[in-house]
Amino acid sequence: MLLADALAQDPEFLAAKQALIEKTLSYSQKIDKIAPPKSSFVQSYEKTLQEFEEIRGFPLFFPYLGSGMGNGALVELADGSVKYDLISGIGVHFGHCHPAILSAGIDAAVQDIAMEGNLMQNRDAYSLAKLLCSSSGMDHCFLSSSGAIANENGLKLAFQKKASAHRLLAFENCFMGRTITLSQITDRPQFREGLPANLFVDYLPFYDWKDPMGSTERAITTLKRHLERYPGEYVCICMEMIQGEGGGYPGKTEFFMALIDILKKAGIAIFVDEIQTFGRTDCLFAFQHFGLQDVVDIVTVGKLLHTCATLYSDAYRPKPGLLSQTYTAATSSIRASLAIVQSLQEEGYLGLHGKNLQVRRLFVQRLQEIAERHPKLLSGPFGHGLIIAATPFGGEREKVVQFTKALFDAGIISFVSGVNPVRIRFLVPVGGITEEGIVEVTKIMEEVLLELR
Ligand SMILES: Cc1ncc(COP(=O)(O)O)c(C=O)c1O
Repeated sequence: MLLADALAQDPEFLAAKQALIEKTLSYSQKIDKIAPPKSSFVQSYEKTLQEFEEIRGFPLFFPYLGSGMGNGALVELADGSVKYDLISGIGVHFGHCHPAILSAGIDAAVQDIAMEGNLMQNRDAYSLAKLLCSSSGMDHCFLSSSGAIANENGLKLAFQKKASAHRLLAFENCFMGRTITLSQITDRPQFREGLPANLFVDYLPFYDWKDPMGSTERAITTLKRHLERYPGEYVCICMEMIQGEGGGYPGKTEFFMALIDILKKAGIAIFVDEIQTFGRTDCLFAFQHFGLQDVVDIVTVGKLLHTCATLYSDAYRPKPGLLSQTYTAATSSIRASLAIVQSLQEEGYLGLHGKNLQVRRLFVQRLQEIAERHPKLLSGPFGHGLIIAATPFGGEREKVVQFTKALFDAGIISFVSGVNPVRIRFLVPVGGITEEGIVEVTKIMEEVLLELR
């Protein structure tokens, strides 16, 4: 037996691991409700935050520094306060102090290395890549440690396959990341202010649920116009199944397929950015929810998965030298990924009656009730699956930011998204949120809305 396996099965190791988990949970479980900051920590917390901002060189959005302890959807901050985490590090956390992730973290901590790399990876990197291929139906998987790099790698594959072409298609209001290249695709001028333009991107209007036929026709017409203007020059189309950063706008199968039929005939790759949507619908991948299994060429994942990856079909195999990097990911994130996918697949999160959609139904119902009681203060809810959004105060940026900050003070961490309107957005830690939590959070939301009226 390999020594690594012998250690993993060693009764003393297993007992120590169990003891560590139980001890951690015994502290974690003391976190059971929202709490204000503790006066003894307030001064030092503020000083630390100020220093942190100074070191970063620009301000934090929220005065947030975690203590390293939490329980489900509740998280302890370093000022002793406890808040509901409804944004989960912008879509990362499955649940604070989740037992399966604690266990994965301990297994990772006793491995020989903390970071796995492209040149020397452990078996768990292979297991994760294999699991992502088998669960997506894609042929290949290259792991990496940020969504932006997963997207960059995907673009490289698309460009190399069609080296004669150099233009991209994307949807208006999309987000793909923040490298110099990706900020040319992300449809936000202020995110690329001062950066050099290094890419040719042409945009199509996205699906509009209020006007399904009209928006589909407009997108088809725009696509055809681009294809006529630049024949043979397009490499791929980048698409989000649900626009997350853009404000929670879902697409629709018929809309995607109408465009994909034309794109496939023109030999243009279908690149689906699932960095935010992965694990948030009734399927593991949102492209499966939208029934696009047979047509996608390149898919990227990150965020909730804890490790990022570029999945691709065999036709997009890179030539030697195209894809490489130092880090694959931290051993603990690879282990966490395996635990999270296993939980999602085996513990009732997916499917029409799974926890993902149950959480959405209750959250959306509560937001709907608030919107009905106060139509001038809140509209929506919007989004799809576990990307949940609503528009407070008509979507005016200043007021929505003020609202999220007031919610933070009241014990709820959310975030903004979209431009016009600006929306409040929730990416709940689905492995930790409870029904009572959703009811309490939405009750507080209504109170804060009324206070700010
Ligand atoms: C759709 C989408 N693509 C790409 C990214 C970039 O991922 P990362 O921030 O890990 O680089 C994000 C992050 O918000 C995203 O939502």
